[in-house]
Amino acid sequence: MAIRGDNSAAKVAPGGVLEFFAGGGLAGIGLASAGFHTLMANDIDAAKARAFRANHHDTPLHEGDVWDLTTADLPGTPDLCWASSPCQDVSLAGARGGLEARRSGAFWGFWRLMKGLADEGRAPRAIAIENVVGLLTSAGGRDFAAVCQALTEGGYRVGALEMDAGLWLPQSRPRLFIVGLKDAAGAEAAPGIFHSPRLIAAHDRLPEAVKANWAWWSLPAPPRRNLDLAALLEPDAAVDWFDANQTQDLLALSAPLHRARLEAALASGERRVAAAFRRVRTETGVKVQRLELRLDGLAGCLRTPSGGSSRQYVLVCEAGQVRARRLTGRETARLMGLAEAYRLPGSESAALKLMGDAVAVPVVRALAEGLLAPALGLRVLKGEGIAA
Ligand SMILES: C[S@@+](CC[C@H](N)C(=O)[O-])C[C@H]1O[C@@H](n2cnc3c(N)ncnc32)[C@H](O)[C@@H]1O
Repeated sequence: MAIRGDNSAAKVAPGGVLEFFAGGGLAGIGLASAGFHTLMANDIDAAKARAFRANHHDTPLHEGDVWDLTTADLPGTPDLCWASSPCQDVSLAGARGGLEARRSGAFWGFWRLMKGLADEGRAPRAIAIENVVGLLTSAGGRDFAAVCQALTEGGYRVGALEMDAGLWLPQSRPRLFIVGLKDAAGAEAAPGIFHSPRLIAAHDRLPEAVKANWAWWSLPAPPRRNLDLAALLEPDAAVDWFDANQTQDLLALSAPLHRARLEAALASGERRVAAAFRRVRTETGVKVQRLELRLDGLAGCLRTPSGGSSRQYVLVCEAGQVRARRLTGRETARLMGLAEAYRLPGSESAALKLMGDAVAVPVVRALAEGLLAPALGLRVLKGEGIAA
């Protein structure tokens, strides 16, 4: 549903969220599990919009460019605006044109709307911006400084957390969450567990005026994770395995150290599950395809597949044999913390793209329950939403 016309006077219950760069709506799912509710979402991509609508029947979605939205499209006065803006230009894996580049520059389309809401007396009390940790260093740190500066000028106390989905789920997925709050409740005097050395270094590079406005937001540490990759895989009989030649071709790409790890897993005689990822490495000046393995019970960070090179594989060592296959779309959804009821696109590649771009649900929930709701003075009523 595209919603046009003036929505600005709409009455909004506590915990209302505007979800920008919504993709498949995983931020909204994490926020909803902490009692927030999405008033309106926006995404430019038709496939993402289909996935969003399939899973959020009652949430108005504005499908289109964030630059085409006006404040009249945004309902009422939201408590929170969430932006998971595109990361390709700030990612360590990308060309790093930064927030001035075409795709990641969409952040400023979002920020223009935040300024517009403030001009109309409808500024959200909280803003959360999710991105890759590459934002800490892209453009020599100027991108991170620009975002923190914008929040500071907008009247928000600003701070950031680096949260790795691996604390909640069997996927290593470090992400940066920059949070602006009109009130500073929840800030610690010094860095805590969600402030990595690279985040502290980025803070040190900020302009003095922004540093003076900085808050070390704190969150409780989650309970120890008790789920590993093997526990969320499909049954062996339900998936397609590579034949012997395909398996050999794949294993031939592994570097000696990774191959040795696999041999040790085989020698253990136990069933061992490895996550594997194909990537291009430069070795002695030459680019080579490598298969990287991990046997620590975690999948590597899911990415959007491009030309098959960023597909993830599952290797199972058992009874002296290695079997290999691709990770399925449903398994990637589980690695993002989604319930089985989440409707994935019909095509595997669309499902992998959707999940590779998404934010992990329990991480959003932890941020919402541990920082956003308390800072907004909202009480999360278990199973009943939120109260002021
Ligand atoms: C990193 S993904 C966020 C995914 C989302 N958090 C989720 O959990 O699925 C960035 C999203 O921004 C969308 N996007 C990119 N440029 C945009 C623009 N100019 N206007 C609106 N959406 C845009 C992409 O289609 C993509 O879904």
